[in-house]
Amino acid sequence: MLKQEHIETSVFSNSTELAKAGAERFAELARTAITTHGQFSVALSGGSTPRAMYGRLAKSPLKDAIDWTRVHVFWSDERYVPLDDTDSCYLLARETLFDHVPIPANNIHPMANVNLSPEEAAWEHAKTLRTFFGSSLPRFDLILLGMGPDGHTASLFPGSPQVKATTDDLVVAVYNSPKPPPTRLSFTYRVINNAANVLLLVAGVDKAATLSEVLQGPVDQVKLPVQGIQPIDGKAIWLLDEAAARELDL
Ligand code: 6PG
Repeated sequence: MLKQEHIETSVFSNSTELAKAGAERFAELARTAITTHGQFSVALSGGSTPRAMYGRLAKSPLKDAIDWTRVHVFWSDERYVPLDDTDSCYLLARETLFDHVPIPANNIHPMANVNLSPEEAAWEHAKTLRTFFGSSLPRFDLILLGMGPDGHTASLFPGSPQVKATTDDLVVAVYNSPKPPPTRLSFTYRVINNAANVLLLVAGVDKAATLSEVLQGPVDQVKLPVQGIQPIDGKAIWLLDEAAARELDL
């Protein structure tokens, strides 16, 4: 079972309340980071769950509660598609959040891939991370993640090379993803587990059985990659809706 000392779990009545709670936590962590060290570094996730959360952040009062000029946005994974493609995680965040808040364009750091192979794009983004953080191992204030029904997170999928072996890489190219599109870029566990906070949003009855295995069953990150999310000196904050949490013994 996952070590509980670095895990916080909260359950909300439905996905709307979950999105509200996620947005409020994002704002709280942003204010704390900006007060403490002058900026808030956050990596957003892909998928549909964060959409409602971004929408909450884009509206008052939360929109006005954050100094967006101090917020720097990255992604924990991205699909290897043009940034204006409907599959792009960047496009989702731009349309639902960045177009509505005063965040400087230079503070947004997408995983660019134009005229780059997946490996070159991963390498280039790792350089961007090292330059921004001024260190070989970035420490994000917050990394936002989701979980798929198969227990994947970011673009770390069951049985994939990225979950079978440790690596010094920060960002990797992922092929033959079982969740389309097939080619992606993803943070590795090395980056994710060095974050101060990892916020995992999980909603929906289709994830209930897997979530019960993940949080209360034996640890096997090859089978359930999200179990590999164990921040070394940080906190894993699980925000769930009742549907996803219905098989948990809480
Ligand atoms: C992606 C995400 C992926 C996502 C989960 C949950 O690229 O799709 O990185 O890991 O977070 O699959 O997706 P939903 O939020 O859509 O259920």
